[in-house]
Amino acid sequence: MAILEREGSVVLQYHPAAGFYPLREWLAQRHDAAPEAVLVSNGSLQIEEFLTQLLTSPGDVVLVERPSYDRAITIFRRAGARVLGVPLESDGFDVGALENLAKREKPKFFYIIPDFQNPTGVTTSLAKRERLVELAERYDFWVLEDNPYRDLRYFGGELPTVFSLHSEKVLYLSSFSKVLSPGMRVGYLMGPEPLVQQLAKIAEDTYVSPNMIGQGVAYEYCRRGWLGPNIDRLREVYRPRLEGLASALEEYLAEARWTKPEGGFFIGVYLPPEMDTSLLRIRARDMGVVLSDGRGFFPESDGHLFLRLPFCALSVEEIREGIARIGSLANTMAIDISGRG
Ligand SMILES: Cc1ncc(COP(=O)(O)O)c(C=O)c1O
Repeated sequence: MAILEREGSVVLQYHPAAGFYPLREWLAQRHDAAPEAVLVSNGSLQIEEFLTQLLTSPGDVVLVERPSYDRAITIFRRAGARVLGVPLESDGFDVGALENLAKREKPKFFYIIPDFQNPTGVTTSLAKRERLVELAERYDFWVLEDNPYRDLRYFGGELPTVFSLHSEKVLYLSSFSKVLSPGMRVGYLMGPEPLVQQLAKIAEDTYVSPNMIGQGVAYEYCRRGWLGPNIDRLREVYRPRLEGLASALEEYLAEARWTKPEGGFFIGVYLPPEMDTSLLRIRARDMGVVLSDGRGFFPESDGHLFLRLPFCALSVEEIREGIARIGSLANTMAIDISGRG
């Protein structure tokens, strides 16, 4: 690899904990920030872990959308945070609920995935992005904008990131996992420089130096101009899969409630209240369809009617077959339940 020939002596050595400088520069340019405002680490989840250490003490409240990414909820809880959910609507978080929680609970941060959210696929409207920045400044909490799916837009027009609305209260997280390779473990954060320095200190105390080979390869890939064409290719592959899932849901699970995403990896489906998804999951597994437990995405005790349906790793035929099986199971179970009266 050219990077190993040209800069091999750099990427094979320990390196400052904030990450490989040429990659920090490349990312900074892409997001209109200074390289010193960028930290690159071993995946964005590791940065979430560092941020939770830095910004919270055990017992502090952090807010997430309800539902939200299950692994992020786990990380926040493991640090001792009290995780509360802000209900998610089809155009993003419930503004009134966020304001009430911000006033009452004085959260340290609100973790939000504004583009093609994991697990629902919902995108936060521009009006809500703008309101979020106002609320964060008024009630003094950080916004953790986690945006790894942003480039995977298949329909509609792009909205500005919350980070680009120029607030000192917004931290931007993203990753090469969805647009290049999850195994490389390269994720990054952008935020105020003093905070980046504090995070770099935690990173240094944790691992001295992040994985330079992964960061060197990511940089070389970007420098050669390969990232844009790869994203275009992924969009072409994933768009028909989203369409296939949406039409299969209309056909086989007409009773379910969901919002059609404009991009990303997932559609989040709410089944009718009489369904029991625990039983459905067990029976679906027997029929070769593996579903994740919807309750993991909800910080409070709901989520038993929720299914996260990932569509990127399957062909349209596999997606249709899977949804047809779930639909026939759901119908049989609904008949069983009404039969029991
Ligand atoms: C919202 C969100 N954030 C972060 C990640 C993980 O990113 P990384 O591989 O950079 O740790 C994922 C992966 O599923 C995700 O959905």
